[in-house]
Amino acid sequence: MKDILYKAYQVAQGDDGIFRGEIKELQTSNLPEEDLLIKVVYSSLNYKDALSARGNKGVTKHYPHTPGIDAAGIVVEDLSGQFKTGEEVIVTGWDLGMNTPGGFGEYIKVPSSWAAKHPSGLSMKESMLYGTAGLTAGLSVYALSQLVKPQSGEILVTGSTGGVGSFSVGLLSKSGYKVTGVTGKPEGKKLLERLGASYTISREEALSPSRSPLLREQWSGVVDTVGGDILGTAIRSTVQRGVITCCGNAASNDLPLTVLPFILRGITLTGIDSQKAPSELRNKIWNLLATDWKINYPKELWSEITLDQLDDKIELMLKGKGKGRFIIKHNH
Ligand SMILES: NC(=O)c1ccc[n+]([C@@H]2O[C@H](COP(=O)([O-])OP(=O)(O)OC[C@H]3O[C@@H](n4cnc5c(N)ncnc54)[C@H](OP(=O)(O)O)[C@@H]3O)[C@@H](O)[C@H]2O)c1
Repeated sequence: MKDILYKAYQVAQGDDGIFRGEIKELQTSNLPEEDLLIKVVYSSLNYKDALSARGNKGVTKHYPHTPGIDAAGIVVEDLSGQFKTGEEVIVTGWDLGMNTPGGFGEYIKVPSSWAAKHPSGLSMKESMLYGTAGLTAGLSVYALSQLVKPQSGEILVTGSTGGVGSFSVGLLSKSGYKVTGVTGKPEGKKLLERLGASYTISREEALSPSRSPLLREQWSGVVDTVGGDILGTAIRSTVQRGVITCCGNAASNDLPLTVLPFILRGITLTGIDSQKAPSELRNKIWNLLATDWKINYPKELWSEITLDQLDDKIELMLKGKGKGRFIIKHNH
């Protein structure tokens, strides 16, 4: 395969110790020696990408590095024989964008086992609108729906105007659940209503001044994306046999809690890991996102950007001010 020059948003540490992203021209011959070369058409921005872009060693150990944990594109070459040249594929998670150059580059090279046939029923732009955020929301709603039915009561979604949170609100309301969204944004109420939320509460209202291990039973289920005190309060307010999914730490890694909600109310806390979700489960969720769960995601909640606009959006996301989704379009 001949060497191809391509553009990528590459992050490196400056002499002042600060990590910055810059658009660089790179060569496909420097990509990892893996089976599958993909021309990336769309990617998307996730919280993990923002951390990688600012030198977070828990996400990316070695720099210079190209972030981007999501990519949808076209197969250029597959040495494994699994995919045909020209076929549309999707890669989300695994090590993409963490320590393997990711979707913020116009080309990626990955093990063919990381790729899935692009879900029919979605365009590449639509699949990247969902991206890891949509997949994680799908995994969360799927896990919750196995034990909590729409008639059981209200579901709380935290970080609800973020990527994972907003899709969770949309998917839950499409599936008939009554949803309350927690948001720190004054304009959040309107957006959440458009996604189908019945109520909106502020981050402050989602916290309780009481340290009591059990609070008034309020939520049949919780989709949490933020962790910390908000998750702790939500768990203490979950009804008997309720279910909480936990996927994120936008507020904190901590979880102030006792064991009492578990042993006195029999609640279930389910961890969600989209990065290494088994292929069969992933495919099931992608299929749902492309069919029964396909939602009309409000235009105010997403925008298409190019590589040179990434820096601003990364800053917004790290300040907790990002709304919804940013899809990155490569200009091949
Ligand atoms: N486990 C997995 O597989 C997986 C996959 C994807 C993402 N994640 C994690 O899930 C979390 C959300 O990801 P995302 O892509 O949806 O990020 P995002 O788009 O930045 O959304 C996060 C949302 O959390 C809220 N928030 C931010 N800072 C907060 C704070 N200090 N206290 C309370 N709420 C705060 C904000 O929503 P409001 O203003 O509406 O409150 C923000 O929009 C991140 O921690 C991410 O790493 C995990």
